[in-house]
Amino acid sequence: MDELEETVVTPWEVRGRINYEKLIEEFGTQPFTNDLKQRLEKNIKQPLHPMIRRGIVFSHRDFDWLLDHIEKGGDFALYTGRGPSGNTHIGHLVPWQFTKWLQDTFDVELYFQLTDDEKFLIDREKSYEETTQYAYQNALDILAVGFNPEKTKFIIDSEAGPKFRRLATEISRRITFSTAKAIFGFTESTNIGLIFHPAMQAAPCFYPSVLHGRKIPVLIPAGIDQDPYWRATRDIAEKMGYYKPVALHSEFIPGLEEGGKMSASKPDTTVFTTDSAKSVVKKVKRAFTGGRATIEEQKRLGGEPEKCNVFAWYRTSFEDDDEALKKRWDDCKSGALMCGPCKQELADRVVVFLEVHQQKAEDAKDVLESCVIRI
Ligand code: TRP
Repeated sequence: MDELEETVVTPWEVRGRINYEKLIEEFGTQPFTNDLKQRLEKNIKQPLHPMIRRGIVFSHRDFDWLLDHIEKGGDFALYTGRGPSGNTHIGHLVPWQFTKWLQDTFDVELYFQLTDDEKFLIDREKSYEETTQYAYQNALDILAVGFNPEKTKFIIDSEAGPKFRRLATEISRRITFSTAKAIFGFTESTNIGLIFHPAMQAAPCFYPSVLHGRKIPVLIPAGIDQDPYWRATRDIAEKMGYYKPVALHSEFIPGLEEGGKMSASKPDTTVFTTDSAKSVVKKVKRAFTGGRATIEEQKRLGGEPEKCNVFAWYRTSFEDDDEALKKRWDDCKSGALMCGPCKQELADRVVVFLEVHQQKAEDAKDVLESCVIRI
């Protein structure tokens, strides 16, 4: 990768080398500390999720406040979303698996927004029919992650109901163009649909309160790139009589190429949920690793798991067992484990995972419609 490539993290674009500590500073969020991990652990019956244990959830807004609220017997709803611009890939599934763990652990509702309008407004090449179609297709992948269909509600923006639209309008009256420009960098040439979008994306923060007729805070697990929306929403929440949304930020999952975040625009190094076993094996075998130039060198010097994307995939989602993960790290470092077998094992795991996932996505067709909310 080009050493000089600039790092960009905005709601529309994530690229370059990412320094998570710097992002916490730039976005003005809080680090997810060991203290918080322990407090969370005390409030639940399950062991902590690997993404928490391993620090992949690295930052938050007001999660300590939410724990106070829970300790006092308060409830909350989960909110997350997806811009349906194409097929789902493994990088999307990882934070959703964590969201499912949150839903199971706290037995709460999940509001899942599919912003087909946003993707239509951003990309002149795409028709509205296409992004709506992707919304439905992505929703199957989302349900395949195992969310409780009784407690999961999809808001497909283009089909959102009157209560949702009223709420978005009420929110939009509170956000001036000057604030939106400052937060999102809109310019004279931004189309006016996109300028309204922050109100659409804020609305699910208050929608559970509207639907239930009482104040319910939302917890939003998402990438930190989406944080500007929550900053805008938090500014107006209390004035509108709602709780400020609480956010958890997780790291971006790398693709199989060097650096960056997994992205549909790099299909050769991204594993899609629709990929065949053959294509998965091909992609994983070509992955960027922390291996040395020759086997002899690797035996002598050991590999470099800290820069290896194959190891990153084990760490983020294909090895739940901390001991086994540590052993993989140690064996790589010592030169006992070569890249070939390590890649092969990952490919095998991804293939098995996708086989099960594809079946679950197929089964989800029966419940999808019951999970779409149009109120
Ligand atoms: N704008 C997001 C995207 O393009 C989609 C989204 C909507 C979202 N609401 C969200 C993402 C809440 C995370 C949390 O992907």
